[in-house]
Amino acid sequence: MAENSVDNREEAEIPELRMEPEGLTLFSGDLSLRGDFTRMIPRLRKGSLEREFLVKAARIRNQAPTVAVDATAGLGEDSLLLAAAGWTVYLCEFDPVIAAMLEDAIRRAAAHPELKEAAGRMFLLKGDSREILPALSFRPDLVLLDPMFPGRQKSGLVRKKAQLLQKLEKPCEDEKGLLQAALAADPVKIVIKRPLKGPFLAGRKPDYSITGKTIRYDCLVNLRKE
Ligand SMILES: C[S@@+](CC[C@H](N)C(=O)[O-])C[C@H]1O[C@@H](n2cnc3c(N)ncnc32)[C@H](O)[C@@H]1O
Repeated sequence: MAENSVDNREEAEIPELRMEPEGLTLFSGDLSLRGDFTRMIPRLRKGSLEREFLVKAARIRNQAPTVAVDATAGLGEDSLLLAAAGWTVYLCEFDPVIAAMLEDAIRRAAAHPELKEAAGRMFLLKGDSREILPALSFRPDLVLLDPMFPGRQKSGLVRKKAQLLQKLEKPCEDEKGLLQAALAADPVKIVIKRPLKGPFLAGRKPDYSITGKTIRYDCLVNLRKE
């Protein structure tokens, strides 16, 4: 990945991570990708944020937002929505390149007047959430799961930026392990983001779902027994 680490390669094939003035950026051929929370700002404003399906799905009855784990953080956009809604969010990401871009995006957000409050509630945990979740020293009230869904990779409509991200993300091979790890963290609620018509994660039927135009949030509730 470093500029000086590879010499006999197809330039267009192997992505390269570079620190640019705008932030840590991944380049591949004519595509580039950078974690950028500034484009999310309009969605974070009062009036918009409460209408976000994820924010609605995350709500726990009779409770203000507390601590959440985003077990599949990616570039952190869903985590940012939760943090802006008041959740303290621990973000797990196991891909080292995505995790590096996410870390850099959080760092830049922490210095941005409109993002710094939410960014101050976002904490990155680099690694596999199947190992991290069962070993947490605290009990998150909420776990968010959004593993890559195989169908998503075939869409011809994906943005150029998303095309590069999809080169890095592999479809989830262990849905059962991910769900088991989320349950092992003993949360009150698990929210699972799925394509509108996608099957349930690991075949687990949710208690209810919140549906948008293209996305469905499957919610497992009242999970904590004491
Ligand atoms: C579809 S993306 C999530 C997008 C994210 N919700 C957002 O708002 O940007 C899935 C991400 O989860 C990561 N991931 C998948 N399984 C994981 C695991 N077991 N532990 C940590 N990260 C995982 C992938 O590397 C990928 O970046």
